[in-house]
Amino acid sequence: MTEDAKKWVFIKVQDKDWNILSSFEAEQDVSILWQSNHRNCEIPLACGSWACMVCACKVISWNEYIDFEKFGKQLINPWDNVILSCVAWIKDEYFEKYWYFEVVIQKII
Ligand code: FES
Repeated sequence: MTEDAKKWVFIKVQDKDWNILSSFEAEQDVSILWQSNHRNCEIPLACGSWACMVCACKVISWNEYIDFEKFGKQLINPWDNVILSCVAWIKDEYFEKYWYFEVVIQKII
C-alpha cells in the first residue's frame, strides 16, 4: 500500500430486524450518532452527553475500533458491546493504520 492510498472506514447501521438502514464512509472526530443522523438514518438523541442511553446501539462487529471516552469520562457504563452513539467515535488510529474496515452497529430503540 502506498503512503497516499485511500483508507476506507465504513459504518453500517442496522435495525432490530437486521436490515441495513445505512452504510457510509466514516468521518474522523465526528460522533457515530451525528454521522448516522446526517445520512437519513435516525438514531434517537436526548442528552448528547452520556446521561440517558436513548442513543444506545449494539455493536455487531468491531467494538475495539470505537472510542468511548475521547473527550471525557463516561458517566454511565453501558453493558458489553453496547455504545452510547452520541459519544462514540471511530478511534483515530484506525483512520491511519488500516486500508479498509467497517463497524456494524444495531439500533436498540
Ligand atoms: S443521547 Fe443521552 S446518552 Fe446519548
